Amino acid sequence: MEIKPLKLGTREARLPLIQGGMGVGISLGRLAGAVAGEGGVGIISTAQIGFREPDFDRDSLGANLRAVKKEFDKARSLSPEGVIGFNIMVASRCYEEYVRAAVKAGADIIISGAGLPMDLPRDVSEAAREAGRETEPALAPIVSTEKAARVVLRYWDRKYRRLPDLLVVEGPLAGGHLGFTGEQLEQFAAPGQADISHAYEEEIRAILQTVRSFEEKYGRKIPVALAGGIDNREKAQKAFQLGADAIQVASRFVTTEECDADIRYKEAYIRAGKEDIVIVKSPVGMPGRAIRNRFMERVMGGEQIPHSPCHKCLHTCNPAKIPYCITDALICAAKGEVEDALLFCGANAWKTDRIETVREVIESLL
Ligand SMILES: Cc1cc2nc3c(=O)[nH]c(=O)nc-3n(C[C@H](O)[C@H](O)[C@H](O)COP(=O)(O)O)c2cc1C
Repeated sequence: MEIKPLKLGTREARLPLIQGGMGVGISLGRLAGAVAGEGGVGIISTAQIGFREPDFDRDSLGANLRAVKKEFDKARSLSPEGVIGFNIMVASRCYEEYVRAAVKAGADIIISGAGLPMDLPRDVSEAAREAGRETEPALAPIVSTEKAARVVLRYWDRKYRRLPDLLVVEGPLAGGHLGFTGEQLEQFAAPGQADISHAYEEEIRAILQTVRSFEEKYGRKIPVALAGGIDNREKAQKAFQLGADAIQVASRFVTTEECDADIRYKEAYIRAGKEDIVIVKSPVGMPGRAIRNRFMERVMGGEQIPHSPCHKCLHTCNPAKIPYCITDALICAAKGEVEDALLFCGANAWKTDRIETVREVIESLL
């Protein structure tokens, strides 16, 4: 497999590998810094990033914005030259404030999914001006369907005369929240499937075709990264054969020494069997993928799990109506309280059988 560097706006990563953002508290400065240090793109998730700050319960937003800078500085100290950025969910409340904090901290790239980042070019330009930055970070929307790709590309073209610097195409085998309806998931991924389905390959081809039409219009390339279920060299190779310029990998990095999660979270991945990985309905309506545990059994049994006062994470949430609080459940995961947690994972996470280093994982992929 020929390994070509990945150009991202004004920056370049030596390896065409992005470590996918993982909230809450799974991909922070340590993991991102380690990946960037090895030549990949290290991504910090801003989702409730300040959960360890002493004032998090009182002022979640303030704690989170402070932690954006702290985690970026940690990653940068581990990798002074590497490409380091943030994953910011569009569904986050105060999305623009996270974007501003990420730009100010010095992000090289901002990757945004869980909704379409329609006005990210405007938000980033304003933030870069405010911060006195000479160069803007690279901008990368995450899409899962051709329709989503078309909508965001067309809007950026018409409103901002601009292309994304990278498009992340996240397929049905990914972890965390998924960008599909339940029906689309059935169409694109049979239960227990380890490889990209034929139906989803067709969707990827359609996305690439749409991308090509905008590339022609601007005479400039838009690199595309494929994500979801890529856990070995063969799958990485397949992604490049399909036309990708890069891969985005998340689950494989959970079971690394450098991953920011508690060791018990990493062990839950190692213990999990294929049958333990299930599709769950997140309280905010989107489907997600996670490990079946006591917490999942309670939720699937229809139990209403009491929650802490709202930390105002997602604007699609109505705290009075939810069966459980996603912030509580994901913070429990990061802290290693694994039986009371929502353990997000990709479809192939069960295959991991040991803790590795970031370097070992990267060598096994590329
Ligand atoms: C534990 C976990 C948390 C995740 N959190 C986020 C997130 O906060 N925002 C996001 O856009 N994607 C999130 N993802 C998706 C990943 O960034 C990535 O695109 C996807 O999991 C790739 O598939 P893989 O895990 O099979 O490699 C998460 C994935 C996992 C496994």
